[in-house]
Amino acid sequence: MLPLLIWSLAGCWTPSPNLTRGEVLFDTCRLCHGSDGLGNPGLQAPAIAGLPQWYIEGQLEKFRTGIRGVRPEDAPGMLMRPSAAALRAEGDIEAVAEHVASLSPNREVSVVLEGQAGLGAATYNGVCSACHGPDATGNEVLGAPPLVLLDAWYMLTQLRNFKAGIRGSHPRDTWGMTMKINADALSEDDMKDVITYISTLR
Ligand code: HEC
Ligand code: HEC
Repeated sequence: MLPLLIWSLAGCWTPSPNLTRGEVLFDTCRLCHGSDGLGNPGLQAPAIAGLPQWYIEGQLEKFRTGIRGVRPEDAPGMLMRPSAAALRAEGDIEAVAEHVASLSPNREVSVVLEGQAGLGAATYNGVCSACHGPDATGNEVLGAPPLVLLDAWYMLTQLRNFKAGIRGSHPRDTWGMTMKINADALSEDDMKDVITYISTLR
C-alpha cells in the first residue's frame, strides 16, 4: 500500500488490479474524514461521502491553491489544506473526488441546533433555495452544493466563516463570493434557524 501511494503521488501511476487510484488516494483522507468519509466532529472534519464530484474537485482545488484554508483563524481549513496540497499529480484530484462521490452518504443524522424551523423555512425559501434548490440538493450550474448531506455543526461553521470573510472573500473565489453576500445578511439566530430547517429536509 505505502509504495503504491508514494508511486501515485510521484505521478507515475499505473492502475492496480485491486485498488483504484481514487481508493489509494482516499487512504490519506480517512484519518480525519473517517474510513467511510462520514466525518469526525472531534476534528471538525465534515462528512464528504456522496457529495457531487464537481463540488469536491472545486473545493480541493481551492484548498490546494490557497483560496480556502489559509487564514490563521481558520484552524479546520488549515488542517485540511496539506492534504489537498499533496494531490499534486495530474488527475489526482479527479480520481479521489470520483471515489468520495461514490461513497454512501447514509448515516445517523447528527444532533440538530436549537433553532426555529418555521423562521428558517421563510429564510430558506426566500433566499437560499434560489441557488441550493427547494430540497437543498444543490445546483451545479450555480456552483451551489447540496446542503441536505451536511451536518448542522459544519454548516454553522461555514456560515460564520463566510460572514467573517474567512471563506468567500478571496478575489479568485467567484462562487464563494456569491455565497458570502447571503451569509452577510444573517444574524447568529438566523443561521441557527435556517440550518434547523435544512436539517428537516433530509
Ligand atoms: C488532517 C485532517 C484532514 C485530512 C487528512 C483531510 N481532511 Fe478534508 N477537511 C478537514 C477539515 C477539518 C475540513 C473542514 C474545513 C472547514 O471547516 O472549512 C475538511 C474539509 C474538506 C472538504 C470540504 C467539504 C465541503 O463540504 O466543503 C473536502 C471536499 C475535503 N475535506 C476532502 C478531503 C479529501 C479528499 C482528503 C484526502 C485527500 C482530505 N479531505 C483529507 C480535515 C482533513
Ligand atoms: C447566489 C447563490 C446562493 C445563495 C442565494 C445561497 N448560496 Fe450557499 N452557496 C452558494 C455557493 C456557490 C456555494 C459554494 C461556495 C464555494 O464554492 O466555496 C455555497 C456554499 C454554502 C455552504 C457551504 C457548504 C459546504 O459544503 O461547505 C452553506 C452551508 C450554504 N451555502 C448555505 C446557504 C444558506 C443557508 C443560504 C441562504 C441563507 C445560502 N447558502 C444561499 C451559493 C448560494
